[in-house]
Amino acid sequence: MPAHASASFFDAWDTYQKVVTCDYMFHREIGEALNQLLRAHFGGRPFSILDLGCGDAATLTPLLEGLALQLYKGVDLSETALVLAAENLKTLPCPVQLTQGHILATLAEDATYDVIYSSFALHHLPTAQKAEFFHLAAQRLSKGGLLLLVDVVREEGETLEVYHQRYCEWLRSSWRALNEDEKDLVCDHLVNNDLPDPCSVLDAQAQAAGLGVALRSARYGWHWLLCFRRA
Ligand SMILES: C[S@@+](CC[C@H](N)C(=O)[O-])C[C@H]1O[C@@H](n2cnc3c(N)ncnc32)[C@H](O)[C@@H]1O
Repeated sequence: MPAHASASFFDAWDTYQKVVTCDYMFHREIGEALNQLLRAHFGGRPFSILDLGCGDAATLTPLLEGLALQLYKGVDLSETALVLAAENLKTLPCPVQLTQGHILATLAEDATYDVIYSSFALHHLPTAQKAEFFHLAAQRLSKGGLLLLVDVVREEGETLEVYHQRYCEWLRSSWRALNEDEKDLVCDHLVNNDLPDPCSVLDAQAQAAGLGVALRSARYGWHWLLCFRRA
């Protein structure tokens, strides 16, 4: 994917905000599962989090409330999103770092985190780069740390073309708060940039990187929460 193509779509942030507000991509349900998972895993223990493709951080910030967060680092290609994120993250009672950059470049930096989180961003990477993502993420996780992935995942045996076609058909009939121009914009972005892989591919890549599957706690159509753990 040309990185600029993704960045330019998300610079028109209004349409995506509408999608999130209407919960068309199940941010609310997946967020509740994520919150429960973080509470069960960390309880009152302090932890740090790296948020890759953080966008405006609007859905994650409230989920972190009441947890003993030590550090939040967010990374995104889009400057527009990062400006919004800086505002949304003001409520966090811990140091906040925001950086404009690529997911893989960030993971190549020498730092470790207790949680690496990425929501609806990994599907922008081609399959080979996803393998690199898992490999680098395993190196950046502290012992026992969690890799939490929220993303669209292709059905097993579903080709990319069929996935694009089905997803666009579904959104055109279900995302009623969007006008036809907005639906065209989303479908255009999706067909030209979205490269989701099936779960079997993600699991195999994670295992090859030394990450075990901790649990599958939420799935809504193509929208999943996947949790991997570093031993
Ligand atoms: C669908 S939005 C998701 C935003 C937020 N994480 C959420 O779940 O609402 C995808 C975000 O990933 C960012 N993104 C896509 N590819 C990226 C990459 N290679 N490196 C960093 N950010 C990327 C986009 O700029 C965009 O802000």
